Amino acid sequence: MTERPHIHQGNGKPQQADGASAQMIDIQNLRKTYDMGATQVHALNRVSVAIERNEYVAIMGPSGSGKSTLMNIIGCLDVPTEGTYRLNSQLVSDMDDDELARIRNQEIGFVFQTFNLLPRSDALRNVELPLIYSGMPGRERKARAEEALNAVGLGDRMDHRPNELSGGQRQRVAVARALSNHPSIILADEPTGALDTRTGQEIMELFTRLHESGNTIILVTHEEDIAAFAHRIIRFRDGEVESDEVAAGTKKTAEREAS
Ligand SMILES: Nc1ncnc2c1ncn2[C@@H]1O[C@H](COP(=O)(O)OP(=O)(O)OP(=O)(O)O)[C@@H](O)[C@H]1O
Ligand SMILES: [Mg+2]
Repeated sequence: MTERPHIHQGNGKPQQADGASAQMIDIQNLRKTYDMGATQVHALNRVSVAIERNEYVAIMGPSGSGKSTLMNIIGCLDVPTEGTYRLNSQLVSDMDDDELARIRNQEIGFVFQTFNLLPRSDALRNVELPLIYSGMPGRERKARAEEALNAVGLGDRMDHRPNELSGGQRQRVAVARALSNHPSIILADEPTGALDTRTGQEIMELFTRLHESGNTIILVTHEEDIAAFAHRIIRFRDGEVESDEVAAGTKKTAEREAS
């Protein structure tokens, strides 16, 4: 790791008073129901999941099985219809929009399939954006954004706009943006979905490094090859958890170290 730029460690958020480590994410009997007039769609149906700090989790399942719905709730972009969601012991499922926005800003780094970068802003500005929202002063903000861009290997592309970057570089800008506020969790919904296989593997190697440096990562993917980077795979079907197992990620890391 010596020549690699510094990557921020997942931040140390509160432990329970008795000293026992709280689950970072504690989801109990979560439901998300859409009322479609005559019918109801249970996008999530009594889902219970616990995720600890520094886990590396892949979420899989067929189209429409509820993966994005769960990610949006974990990421405080949406709220459940029933059930509870605790993040670092805080009861998120009861929060109002302002509180959700605050938690989102402090705790969550989101990476999307389509990057969601501002086209007219350069890489540095795109990465600074969440920090502008959190009210960080300009000088500190710039330093943070530079740190994040260096961490994803884009120190020499900070003044490039999205259309002056390759697909993989755009996604790395999006990862840097997700890192800039030093979140508790990095959530990635099909982060390699718009990338070719080789570029997708590069992004996954970046996630692996982030995980190794202490970050908690949850990603959605349709591809077994991508999920194999994670250490745990949760499979959804029809809004329910179908299986939840240890994945090959540990093996992959070991193979990489041996070679
Ligand atoms: N706003 C909405 N109104 C009504 N139904 C919705 C809404 N959003 C999602 N759904 C339904 O909820 C279910 C879960 O959707 P979700 O987006 O979580 O699936 P997904 O697993 O992410 O699928 P994909 O792999 O295609 O991205 C789907 O059946 C979908 O049609
Ligand atoms: Mg989805």
